[in-house]
Amino acid sequence: MKTRRKYSNDEITVFWRPNECIHASVCFTKLYSVFNPRRHPWIVLDGADTKVVIDIVNECPTRALTFMWNDSEKNAAEISRKAEKDIDSVAKEFGYVPQENQPVEIKIMRNGPILVTGDFKIFDSDDCTLQPVKMVSLCRCGHTNNPSYCDGSHFKYGFRDEE
Ligand code: FES
Repeated sequence: MKTRRKYSNDEITVFWRPNECIHASVCFTKLYSVFNPRRHPWIVLDGADTKVVIDIVNECPTRALTFMWNDSEKNAAEISRKAEKDIDSVAKEFGYVPQENQPVEIKIMRNGPILVTGDFKIFDSDDCTLQPVKMVSLCRCGHTNNPSYCDGSHFKYGFRDEE
């Protein structure tokens, strides 16, 4: 069953679909005051201005995070505005710029996952390509509940790099 959790402030409601989250880490890497996997609930919208929250939600590469305005008129305007643009231009507007032939970079995050960005494909154990993304974080601590992706469990288990 697909679950969808929601988190609201006075202006917007943010939706999170855990089944579609591949833990690319964009949200908590860029806006930890709002998206904090160590906290319960892990999304608290009071941690930043609504505009900043929207910018980060729109950077989610799999759309596991989405939002709606609480005001129905504002929301209708947002939907029609977005419908007029293709997905690339929306991504560009919010600062996420997928590029052709973007070189692959692999970064080992201190005390955390391996962050992979750029043009790459992920194949499952049956050699099928998974959903194309431009960024993914891979578990390095061995405690994830969603192998092989980081789900934030390294925080819970206190995973530390050797000094
Ligand atoms: S590195 Fe994040 S859950 Fe393992």
